[in-house]
Amino acid sequence: MSIVWLSSMELGHAGIDRDHKTVLGIIRNCDLALRDGRQADAAAAMADLRVEVAAHFAREIDLMSEAHYDRTEEHAQGHRRGLAEIEGMVEAARQGRLAADAMQGLIDTFARRLFFDDAHFVNFLNR
Ligand SMILES: [Fe+2]
Repeated sequence: MSIVWLSSMELGHAGIDRDHKTVLGIIRNCDLALRDGRQADAAAAMADLRVEVAAHFAREIDLMSEAHYDRTEEHAQGHRRGLAEIEGMVEAARQGRLAADAMQGLIDTFARRLFFDDAHFVNFLNR
């Protein structure tokens, strides 16, 4: 079974939640493609993922800057590490050697970022 979007993943910020749902849907497509051995589909999904994640990260940082969030730079550093990780995976997928455990690592990272780092920001907005 792959990851699925759950309402419990909503943080209560419409824009961020919409982005997360989109990103998770692409991660799911990539995961399912890998599980089925559809490497070309996995590579296409990873390329989409890089575009969507970069756009999402930029929107999040804009929101954080506007709100004068005190952890913006720390969060941006996490984004840069995350994008570098994804870029490595895009290349691996393009070469048909993206491993299922790398995908699981990405799912874990997504969940950790959502429930800790992004939730912390939404709580800051709602304080
Ligand atoms: Fe996020």
